[in-house]
Amino acid sequence: MTVAQALAQAAALGLARLDAQLLLLHALGRAATDRAWLLAHDSDAVDQEAGAAFLALCERRATGQPLAYLVGEKEFYGLSLNVDPRVLVPRPETELLVDWSLELLRGVAEPRVIDLGTGSGAIALAIKRHCPQAQVEAVDRSEEALAVAGANAQSLGIDVGLAHSSWLTGMAGRRFSLIVSNPPYVAEQDEHLAALAHEPRSALAAGPDGLDDLRQIVAQSPAHLQPGGWLLLEHGWDQAGPVQALLQAAGFTEVQSRRDLAGIDRCTGGKWPGLG
Ligand SMILES: C[S@@+](CC[C@H](N)C(=O)[O-])C[C@H]1O[C@@H](n2cnc3c(N)ncnc32)[C@H](O)[C@@H]1O
Repeated sequence: MTVAQALAQAAALGLARLDAQLLLLHALGRAATDRAWLLAHDSDAVDQEAGAAFLALCERRATGQPLAYLVGEKEFYGLSLNVDPRVLVPRPETELLVDWSLELLRGVAEPRVIDLGTGSGAIALAIKRHCPQAQVEAVDRSEEALAVAGANAQSLGIDVGLAHSSWLTGMAGRRFSLIVSNPPYVAEQDEHLAALAHEPRSALAAGPDGLDDLRQIVAQSPAHLQPGGWLLLEHGWDQAGPVQALLQAAGFTEVQSRRDLAGIDRCTGGKWPGLG
């Protein structure tokens, strides 16, 4: 089988061309940046072992398994993160939360940051990489997710603390300059959950209206913010209003939302009254 024939077989299985190219590069042990190599070598033979591995990956992709799980990595904020079915695949829109966090941390002396529901470690690791003076803690209720986050921290050489906790319950007496979270926010009956069946349900679903975890985080945060500290939350496309209302009712000021690249209000945050 040649490179061109391998890609044609993937197309026959219904795979997008880009996915097929990335899976073939992975099976050939080449970098994801080598797509031009595939074009220049389309009549090269693919050896039997790599060809069989490629077709097995294509079949898994055709059943809806995320590409990132099949190749074992996902880029987030310029970091290459190892991912597998123990964690949510980090989404590009979550980079907005990192941008906003870094803006708020500029000029803060010795900031203390906590990322609630860290999954692969994406948010915590990106913040620490770009704000090395921050002390960054990453929390998850899933021990399996913490293992993935810890391995990513180690392989990237980024120093973040890891803690097993349900939201802030394990943080008695501790206060932070910034609490940031991309919690589960999909309603349990939402039809979109079916398309996300390969990712952990505990990373996605949050009660009948999708707001259960957002409510808990907003309720717990005031006791863990320094005066002038901020809480930043990612949420669903239609949840900016309810999340703003939760923050206002809890006593936050400067409550505001930010749009992602698709123009959707994707993150909402507020400042805990006081200095700063
Ligand atoms: C939507 S995923 C976000 C993962 C990662 N922060 C990202 O943006 O890619 C939500 C994460 O919250 C974690 N989680 C769910 N309930 C939790 C709880 N009660 N306390 C702490 N973490 C929780 C899940 O295990 C999952 O890793």
